[in-house]
Amino acid sequence: MIEVKNIQKKFAEKTIIQDVSAQFKTGQCNLIIGASGSGKTVLMKCIVGLFHPDSGEVLYDGADFTKMEHDEKTEIRKQIGMLFQGSALFDSLNVEQNIMFPLNMFTDWNLKKKIDRVNEVLARVNLTGVNRKFPAELSGGMKKRVALARAIVLNPKYLFCDEPNSGLDPQTSLVIDKLIKEITTEYNITTVINTHDMNSVMEIGNYILYMYQGVKEWEGSNKEIIFSKNKKLNDFIFASEFLQDAKDMRMLEQAGKISNVRNMDDLLSKENPHS
Ligand SMILES: Nc1ncnc2c1ncn2[C@@H]1O[C@H](COP(=O)(O)OP(=O)(O)OP(=O)(O)O)[C@@H](O)[C@H]1O
Ligand SMILES: [Mg+2]
Repeated sequence: MIEVKNIQKKFAEKTIIQDVSAQFKTGQCNLIIGASGSGKTVLMKCIVGLFHPDSGEVLYDGADFTKMEHDEKTEIRKQIGMLFQGSALFDSLNVEQNIMFPLNMFTDWNLKKKIDRVNEVLARVNLTGVNRKFPAELSGGMKKRVALARAIVLNPKYLFCDEPNSGLDPQTSLVIDKLIKEITTEYNITTVINTHDMNSVMEIGNYILYMYQGVKEWEGSNKEIIFSKNKKLNDFIFASEFLQDAKDMRMLEQAGKISNVRNMDDLLSKENPHS
């Protein structure tokens, strides 16, 4: 489990993250959601140690990362996989070399063992055989999967994904979400995902932390979010009238009022029996 306690981060006197506390459980997809600029990436960077929070604690299975010595931090870093916003593959390296990069940094394995591991993770993200391709030759969804393969190549205990679905069509997004969810459960990883994607929230949000202007505005699960009365959250998540209607429908359904309704036509004929 990763726990953050009272995290505070300022840039030049401007408070970006204000007193945020949260628990990200093991074997779960923990989502950080919020509008652009609400502080999701800064918070994630504080957790993985790319930014040093001004105050607060970041506990990896109970040990405070912010107070660790260099060697201890390196040990934790080895256990962290990160999928950056925009994939961040090295353009001049092919897929195999990209995925091998963390193995070269953190292991003394021989070449055969490294290539075997690359092939294993490539198979896991359904990309067997693309070893020699360069990032420029891959589609957006393939790049994300290569980045995910690289993020899991060291068998991480903790996986961070910053906007894994940005720039992808809804179907490819679902494939990526499903893959992250499967990998999280299969290897019992503590996964933290920054996202704007409402499909992801509903599909894989075991735990959701909603950030509003650097503050934790709401937290709960994908089951609870439907029933939330938090106005800021509802305005953000059910932004369109269509989604608001869908939420109302779901609430009615859950309340058992429309359990016999099979589809919208059914509902309309029940509401307007003469129409
Ligand atoms: N290195 C930095 N120096 C100064 N300000 C920064 C820095 N990084 C981020 N910020 C500011 O922090 C705020 C939050 O940025 P952040 O990137 O965390 O937003 P976000 O929620 O991830 O947005 P998006 O959904 O667009 O990725 C923004 O106002 C941004 O300008
Ligand atoms: Mg961001």
